[in-house]
Amino acid sequence: MIVTTSDLYEVAYGRFAIGAYNINNMEQALGLFEGHARAEAPFIVQLSKGARKYAGVKMLEAILRAVEQDYPDAIFAVHLDHGDEETCYDAIDSGFYSSVMIDASHDPFEENIAATRRVVERAHAAGVSVEAELGMLGGVEEDIQVDEKHAQLTDPSEAQEFVERSGCDSLAVAIGTSHGAYKFSGSQGIHFDRVEEIQRRLPGFPLVMHGSSSVPREEVERINAAGGALDPSAKGVDEDEFARAVPLGVTKVNIDTDGRLVWTRVHREHFRDHPENFDFRTPGRIFVEEYARFIEHKAEKLQSKGMIGELREALGERTG
Ligand code: G3H
Ligand code: 13P
Ligand code: ZN
Repeated sequence: MIVTTSDLYEVAYGRFAIGAYNINNMEQALGLFEGHARAEAPFIVQLSKGARKYAGVKMLEAILRAVEQDYPDAIFAVHLDHGDEETCYDAIDSGFYSSVMIDASHDPFEENIAATRRVVERAHAAGVSVEAELGMLGGVEEDIQVDEKHAQLTDPSEAQEFVERSGCDSLAVAIGTSHGAYKFSGSQGIHFDRVEEIQRRLPGFPLVMHGSSSVPREEVERINAAGGALDPSAKGVDEDEFARAVPLGVTKVNIDTDGRLVWTRVHREHFRDHPENFDFRTPGRIFVEEYARFIEHKAEKLQSKGMIGELREALGERTG
C-alpha cells in the first residue's frame, strides 16, 4: 500500500526512523521489498532525477507496481529525491508519487521559501507530502558538487521561519553528513547539538537526514580486494547513532551509497571468483538476497523493525 511520508511520520516521530532508499533497477526493488517484508517495517522508496533518467519514469513506476503485487502487505511511500520545481510538478501530476522533495537549498533563503511554497500548494492539492531542504550538505548530489568549505549547517532559527512560511511537511537539515562514500575524517560525525537546537525550535516536526550511509569498512575492503580502487579512508555515519538521532526528531534517514557498495562488492567478487561466467543472473540473484539482508539489518538500527502492524492500525483507524 502506497501512503504519504506524512502518514509514516505521524506514527514514527520520536520513536523510530523510516529508511528511505534510492532505487534504479529491478534487483534493488526486489531486495528492498523482501528485506522490509522480513523486517515487517514500513519504508520509503526514493527515485532521483538520475534514476528517472537512467531507467525511465515509466519503467520505474512499472517495476514498483509489479513488485508491490508480490508484496501486498508492504506499506511504503514513493518519494521524489532532490527534485527541482519542474520535476516535482511532473511527479505530482503523475499521480504515482505520494511525496516529493523540492531541493532549492542552493538558492538564497527567500527563493528557497518561494519555490517550496509553490510546490507545497500544488502537492497538497493532490494529497502529496513535501520535503524541503535548508542548509547545504557537502558531497555530490545529482549534478551538483558541494565541497566541504561551502557546506553549511542548517541555522535553527532560519529553519523555524522556513517551515512556518513554506508549509513543508518535513525538512532536510544539514547536520554534518554529506552524500557519497567520503563523509568524515578523524573524529567528525553528526552535529547532535545542532539537531537538538532545531528540534527545540520545531518540536514534533519531522527532520530528514540525508547522506546517512554508513560505508562499512569491511565492504570497502572487500571491494578493493576484488579489484576495486576505493579510497580506504572512506567513512560514513555510525549506524548506532540513528538511535540517538530518532528522539531528536530525525524521522527519515536517506541511504543510497551503502546499497551501491553491496552491488559493487557482490558483482566484483562474483566475477573475480567465476571469471568463466557471463550469466549476470547469478550475481543478480546473490545481490537481491544480500540487499534484502542489508535492508533487514538497517530496519533494526532505525528501530522500524516490527512497526508495520502499528502503522496499519493507525491508518485503519483514520480511514474508519
Ligand atoms: O542524493 C543523491 C542520491 O544518492 C541519488 O543519487 O542522483 O546519482 O541517483 P543519483
Ligand atoms: P548517501 O550517499 O549517504 O547514501 O545519501 C543518500 C541520500 O541522501 C539520498 O538523498
Ligand atoms: Zn540526499
